[in-house]
Amino acid sequence: MTQKIDLRSDTVTRPTPAMLQAMFAAPVGDDVYGEDPTVNALEEKAAVMFGMEAGLFCPSGTMTNQIAIKVHTAPLTEVICDITAHIHQYEGGGIAFNSGASTALVHGERGKMTPQQVEANIRPLDNIHFPETRLVALENSCNKGGGSFYTLQEIAAISEVCKRHNLALHLDGARVFNALAASGDSAQDYGLYFDSISVCLSKGLGAPVGSVLLGSREFIKRARRVRKVFGGGMRQAGYLAAACIYALDNHIERLHEDHRRAKELEQVLLQSSYVESVMPVETNIVIFKLNERMQDAAFVQALAKQNILASSFGPQMIRFVTHLDITEEMHQHLLQVLQALNQEKVEA
Ligand SMILES: Cc1ncc(COP(=O)(O)O)c(C=O)c1O
Repeated sequence: MTQKIDLRSDTVTRPTPAMLQAMFAAPVGDDVYGEDPTVNALEEKAAVMFGMEAGLFCPSGTMTNQIAIKVHTAPLTEVICDITAHIHQYEGGGIAFNSGASTALVHGERGKMTPQQVEANIRPLDNIHFPETRLVALENSCNKGGGSFYTLQEIAAISEVCKRHNLALHLDGARVFNALAASGDSAQDYGLYFDSISVCLSKGLGAPVGSVLLGSREFIKRARRVRKVFGGGMRQAGYLAAACIYALDNHIERLHEDHRRAKELEQVLLQSSYVESVMPVETNIVIFKLNERMQDAAFVQALAKQNILASSFGPQMIRFVTHLDITEEMHQHLLQVLQALNQEKVEA
């Protein structure tokens, strides 16, 4: 196959011709003045979808997460999150740098914390040795958990702990639509439990750029100030927001297809002689471990020879992410290549 099959991440998608058309046609203005009608429409649309009062368009999921953490915390306070959380692992130490806050790291199950684990990590308020717990942050779906997801019921139980202890609850929803597609929960109900939600349009939904931070009107007012300080105030950003609106209107339903393909990959991998284990596939992420018959570098190289790109995800660990730019033909080719590797002797 001559076309590249890029499974490194769902962030690699290119805008479709119809999405580009929507971008070209967008009415725009200066969003720092609040005058971009397309940005305003996106913020309103995303807020309504998730049962929140207001939204703020930002260039990245890292920025929406970091703004939320900055608004919810202060120096000398603490964020409770799973040890694998993107906000802790992959945002460059931004919690300490931007907010002067620390993290209480929970060893959850595939990225998911229980209400009991959250409660056990809340610091006693009357002891000056400890930072003050302010925020609990969930990730849904969980990237490092292999696309595992919280159900609304699990979210509600953690929210109950937060309310009882007067803590804010933030969601890193980089892949929230994958979680919703798999759980069947309604996005609207998320508004009942979260104080802020970061929604990425540039992952599974296929927009080239953009995340929206959602919260109360008051929260978003403060977040808008922080976005300016972080350098995230964009001018005619409506061209980008138009791609995000198009993605919300057209690319949510098809996520089931990505999940079906990820499941098929899991089945083939489980039957492969070179695979030790596969994390149970729940959404669009497939993380698996190679056994001693196949070195990770050799595996990645063997795939690259077939124009297939995969991510190394730790020693002997590989990650595939299915997405919008993988056609059925590419998927079938990939399944064949994975099966054929059983017969081949792969040298590093
Ligand atoms: C779970 C999760 N959160 C946040 C982000 C950050 O998004 P961005 O790359 O837009 O900063 C990512 C990026 O892949 C992610 O996987």
